[in-house]
Amino acid sequence: MGYSKKKILIYFISWLSLMLCGCLMFYVLTERSKNNFYQQGVRAVQEIAGKNLPSLVNFIIQGNFNPPLNITADTFSENLKFVAVIENNGTGNNNILAHTDPKFVRWPFTPPLKKPKHIDTIDDVVIEKEDSPYNERLISFSAYISANGTNIGRAYLVVYSYPLDGSLSRLRWIFASGYLLITIMLLIIYLMNSKGIIRELPNDYPPRKLGPSIVGIKLHEGGMAGIFMAVNEKNGRTVIVKILLPHLAKGHHIDLFKQEAKLAEDLQGLPNIIQLEDYYEKDNAIVMEYIRGKDLSEIMDKVKIIPTDQAVFIISQCCIGLHYAHSKGIVHRDIKPSNIMIRFTGEVKIGDFGIAKKMFKSDGTIVEGIKGTLPYIAPEQLKQIKEEPVDARADLYSLGIVFYEMLNGEKVRNFDGVGTYTAIQSILETEIRPLKDLKKDIPAELNDIVMKCVEMKREARYQSAEELREALSVLERKLGLSCDGPYLSAFMEEHFDERQKRQMRNDG
Ligand SMILES: Nc1ncnc2c1ncn2[C@@H]1O[C@H](COP(=O)(O)OP(=O)(O)O)[C@@H](O)[C@H]1O
Ligand SMILES: [Mg+2]
Repeated sequence: MGYSKKKILIYFISWLSLMLCGCLMFYVLTERSKNNFYQQGVRAVQEIAGKNLPSLVNFIIQGNFNPPLNITADTFSENLKFVAVIENNGTGNNNILAHTDPKFVRWPFTPPLKKPKHIDTIDDVVIEKEDSPYNERLISFSAYISANGTNIGRAYLVVYSYPLDGSLSRLRWIFASGYLLITIMLLIIYLMNSKGIIRELPNDYPPRKLGPSIVGIKLHEGGMAGIFMAVNEKNGRTVIVKILLPHLAKGHHIDLFKQEAKLAEDLQGLPNIIQLEDYYEKDNAIVMEYIRGKDLSEIMDKVKIIPTDQAVFIISQCCIGLHYAHSKGIVHRDIKPSNIMIRFTGEVKIGDFGIAKKMFKSDGTIVEGIKGTLPYIAPEQLKQIKEEPVDARADLYSLGIVFYEMLNGEKVRNFDGVGTYTAIQSILETEIRPLKDLKKDIPAELNDIVMKCVEMKREARYQSAEELREALSVLERKLGLSCDGPYLSAFMEEHFDERQKRQMRNDG
């Protein structure tokens, strides 16, 4: 998603204004500094002219300095360097005769052409300043000396300087470097944005309000949607809203999202499935019940190996949810730990029907891109054979992998750093190792159930969620397992912190 034209314009104007403000600021400061410098220069020249007046006059009249020129550096600040040049009336030659900077050499001296015979009175010394057109650091001050009622000559006193004093000049550099840095950063951000490396969320995402619900903090952002907490203003209940990411709010993503909402509608009132509360088509937003608890992936991250009683109970509960979904003709296609939520009260709920599909509904295409999460996906889901559409048994396969991982405490398949092609080959060709090989103490019956779920051929698996659930209840009786909601709740309480326990109690 790129920036809108309006935003680019605003950024550009801000950028330009910053530069103009900077220039204006430095113009003003420079002028002030220059002015300051002139005043210093005028003072210095007045002093020199005053101190050396007899010498200057004598020089104009007779061509020599008598008494000698007396110029000291005392009068000058660090940015004022003085050179005295005497120019006689009409000669046009500038001769450096005295200076405070030893770098300067004495220039040849041309004697004046016209000399007044004698001077009775010195009428005035007028100091004038002028900028040198050749060197911006050089400002000259002329001391026009008039005597006997006429202008007898000019002592041309030149001051070298840096009209910008040191700190101002440093400030100018700092500003210029900062500005350059900002420009480069803006450019990088702009490029990253236009290449889609970073995304900027529009102001209306997420919407502040959806019907009676005020949208709050974000809990999660997946590939397609953001999950936000929200509060229903009318009844004070917390709800969850899932909102399609703004840059995806077009074309086929909208269709998929619509489908998720539509399926969620079909699944209303069914147990062990996260319930839809509202759907805002225009906002591409689904409002659903809030599951105060953890998703199974968070629980597995924390607990590693889930005790057998709880694991069997969680899978049985998922079977109930899946059974209802399947009986409505809906395959989930993305069963994995993060899509199974456990309430602190011990209730198990399946969520995220984002890529679920009505069974037996052919949309006429075979290839629709692989959907699902590779480590949990059933082999037939990868093959995408038109005559063999994915059905309930694919969900049972994925559930089997979840089951396996809960009991073993490790991922069945880790495709980190593995290319998609290799991962797909591995799913299609490699049989999953019997759980009992890794976990010696597992009861044989339990191993058999898990392994039957993850059979490569779907004909060899449980054929329905009900069948798996049946097998699990037989197992429970046989092994004397006993887990129920309150038991699972106690398990959650044991593993999650005080704050969450408090939340759980408030939950009732
Ligand atoms: N109703 C809900 N209540 C509480 N947390 C939820 C709820 N729905 C989703 N979540 C949290 O957000 C995560 C992502 O939600 P999900 O619907 O799976 O979206 P995605 O399509 O991004 O995977 C879940 O794994 C869960 O941790
Ligand atoms: Mg999910």
